Amino acid sequence: MPEVASRLHLENVGYVLKDCFAQAGIKPEQLTAVAVTGGPGLIGALHVGVLAAKTIANFYQIPLINVHHLAGHIYANEFAGKFIFPQLAVVVSGGNSEIILMKDHMSFEIIGETLDDAIGESFDKIARALGLAYPGGVNIDKLTKDQDIPVIKLPKVHASGYNLSYSGLKSSLTRKIKDLKAKGEMTPELVKSYAFSVEKAFVDQLLDKVFKAAKAYKVKQIVMGGGVSANSYLRKEIIRRGQDLYKIVIPPLWCTTDNAAMIAKIGSRLYKMGRTDSLDFAPQASRELGQ
Ligand code: KG4
Repeated sequence: MPEVASRLHLENVGYVLKDCFAQAGIKPEQLTAVAVTGGPGLIGALHVGVLAAKTIANFYQIPLINVHHLAGHIYANEFAGKFIFPQLAVVVSGGNSEIILMKDHMSFEIIGETLDDAIGESFDKIARALGLAYPGGVNIDKLTKDQDIPVIKLPKVHASGYNLSYSGLKSSLTRKIKDLKAKGEMTPELVKSYAFSVEKAFVDQLLDKVFKAAKAYKVKQIVMGGGVSANSYLRKEIIRRGQDLYKIVIPPLWCTTDNAAMIAKIGSRLYKMGRTDSLDFAPQASRELGQ
């Protein structure tokens, strides 16, 4: 509901700013620069954030930095470790599933992406069919974490190269679940089994492609970001499969879902690189990584 989201941004931005300064124990006049998400995202919500940032930058005469949302997710990893190049960045969120090759700071080459729906959105839709509350990915994780659950065999998904695909499995599973429910055959054990099986199918497909790409591009490190990188099975599996071959860096749980700290983190790097923006840039609902 983009309209509701924009209104809530507008209603809350002042309180959030006030609270941030109070918690950080600093005054606005102590700021060196302001970093803000300039896209991609919901345009109404982006406008609110960008306008707030522009106002602060203009009033205190400090530089403004326009940050790409996905680059922010990638740089959240700098809270956990240093970047070593070449590295792969895996961005998995409600709206994105991308495998990105980075040969240097702020250099992004998308080598694989979803051909249809994003992994987080697919988790949410299947969770809803299973009767789990939003955000579905989080509740699938809670239901299945650290348990020995029987796996239901699901069809293998094919996508070219390092690309990914989630919609086929999502649609066939939601149909199957609705069918079972209609026949009164869905039990709590089956809900758990479907939840774990889809989690495993989605994550295994992703990691098969990630490790194939890591080998082909001879990377030294793999980093992850986005809401789905909070998933317990994914975090465990990427380490289990990759730790002897690559350095694996995963962001702390608190900065996996959308947050402002990661935007400040990448903002400080851009500031040191001298990459600041003029006050007249406009937020963009869709924006290429690296632009
Ligand atoms: O990055 P994010 O906060 O928002 C954007 O999409 O930009 O990601 C939200 C997505 C939702 O689809 C949510 O279900 C998923 O991340 N998510 C998870 C987990 N935590 C959040 N999916 C699986 N397991 C989790 N633990």
